[in-house]
Amino acid sequence: MSATAVLITGASGGIGYELAKLFARDHHNLVLVARSADKLAQVATELQAHGVTVKTIALDLAATPAPKFLFDQLQREGIAIEILVNNAGFGAFGEFAQMPIDEVLGQIDLNIRALTELTRLFLPPMIARRSGRIMHVASTAAFQPGPLMAVYYATKAYVLSFSEAIANELSDTGVTVTCFCPGATHTDFAKRAGMENSRLFKQVGAMSAEKVALDGYRAVMEGRGLAISGAHNWLVAQSTRFAPRKMVTAISRWIAEKAD
Ligand SMILES: NC(=O)c1ccc[n+]([C@@H]2O[C@H](COP(=O)([O-])OP(=O)(O)OC[C@H]3O[C@@H](n4cnc5c(N)ncnc54)[C@H](OP(=O)(O)O)[C@@H]3O)[C@@H](O)[C@H]2O)c1
Repeated sequence: MSATAVLITGASGGIGYELAKLFARDHHNLVLVARSADKLAQVATELQAHGVTVKTIALDLAATPAPKFLFDQLQREGIAIEILVNNAGFGAFGEFAQMPIDEVLGQIDLNIRALTELTRLFLPPMIARRSGRIMHVASTAAFQPGPLMAVYYATKAYVLSFSEAIANELSDTGVTVTCFCPGATHTDFAKRAGMENSRLFKQVGAMSAEKVALDGYRAVMEGRGLAISGAHNWLVAQSTRFAPRKMVTAISRWIAEKAD
């Protein structure tokens, strides 16, 4: 494969798949990562029609050695990552005290640890080339606490804080860091989280993954530090800055609860 590519984690479906389509249409070679080898193979076949090279690597990024394994493999193959899209992530719904510990730690391992390690690994070569883009897919969950999804919301608050801090550190390097925050989006996320019947997805409404990915794609290509998908989501994120924290937290819980 040619020497440069965009690396997208969680590209077998949802927002990551839609992002992969946009990059392929703009003639970027791709490295796509997720656990499902079969789904990745289908995506690769589809996107190769755009005349780009698509490499797929089936990996569970929540497993400790996975980020380093991925980095080493791409180094060995001489593939330079021009854009890193840390998109893979999941949420689990339920009271923290009852949540199975593997669900608790799994969210931290994927949403925080893998994202941080991949960034730490792929960033130095970008700085050395004085060129590169990093996209972190956080969430509007980053802006307030989330009762019934306490760990998920906290992981996304980490992603926002981490992204803004390193964007500042990298300001003169030629490397941009974009923290992209979708709100509720129609993907497999809600089903995986066990929150399909929440007020958020039933009543507030969700955006299409296609539209969300386009917002994210534009933000990363413009090198914006923070982008929130959807005007309504932007308004909600702003309102959390002025309302009392207890009230924001109570509303966040109400939205996560089951719709009548
Ligand atoms: N949908 C929403 O409402 C929403 C809102 C805000 C933010 N987000 C964020 O957007 C990102 C993408 O989510 P989505 O909505 O597109 O969800 P999705 O449809 O469930 O897609 C998640 C992707 O991540 C991959 N993945 C999951 N666990 C993985 C693991 N351990 N290792 C490697 N890949 C893994 C999945 O593929 P495999 O199952 O094949 O591994 C899939 O490709 C996440 O970070 C999510 O937190 C979503």
